Amino acid sequence: MAKERIDKLIASQGMRSRSDAAKIIKSGKVCINGAVIKSTSFKADPDTDSIVIDGERFAYKKFIYIMMNKPQGVVSASRDPKEKTVVDLVPEEMKRPELFPAGRLDKDTTGFVLITDDGAFAHYILSPKHHIDKTYLATTDTIIDESYLEQMRNGMASGDEVFLPAQIELYENTDSPVYKITLHEGKYHQIKRMIAATNATLLALKRISMGALSLDGSLLPGECKELSDKEVAQLKS
Ligand code: URA
Repeated sequence: MAKERIDKLIASQGMRSRSDAAKIIKSGKVCINGAVIKSTSFKADPDTDSIVIDGERFAYKKFIYIMMNKPQGVVSASRDPKEKTVVDLVPEEMKRPELFPAGRLDKDTTGFVLITDDGAFAHYILSPKHHIDKTYLATTDTIIDESYLEQMRNGMASGDEVFLPAQIELYENTDSPVYKITLHEGKYHQIKRMIAATNATLLALKRISMGALSLDGSLLPGECKELSDKEVAQLKS
């Protein structure tokens, strides 16, 4: 990448504000290619220059990709004047200035939300052209009649909207049956509207995968993990 001001580079990784970055630099804690740099406007390229802060190598990442297990009651937004957002729940060590959720889950839906600061990547995985499948577990109050399951598999109409064929199978047969549903599109309140057109009532909804990447089962509601390059690639397939 091109050279960038060192205070800006340090602040871009979250954790430290621009003024904190300036303080660290002025106190002589930043070395570039072995020399202490005290000027905040000094420019460096993290791909080719060795940057050490307080004795530790500065591992610069252009973008961050975070998997969150979204709890109920938070909104899929960066900020909101009244409601708690998924970005509010991101832990300090992963926080960056431009984070946003790539795709929305309803306030009462739980599960896999991708949070990133990579606008082009988010655009790619959300674009209808690329058809990134999303899989959900839908808990209902009763077994859905076979005729409705067939409609969902063949493509169903709801009001003046037509939904593309979806995959649906019974996942857990209990008093509150759980269905695994894979959508190849993402229309507003799609699963809620599909189930509302059947004999059953939706009790809970959780997203368990995006593309070939599944929600990490060890994440408690509200917890996050940073994705590896391999996992980010799985999101696209
Ligand atoms: N379908 C819905 O109805 N809600 C969601 O949050 C996701 C899919």
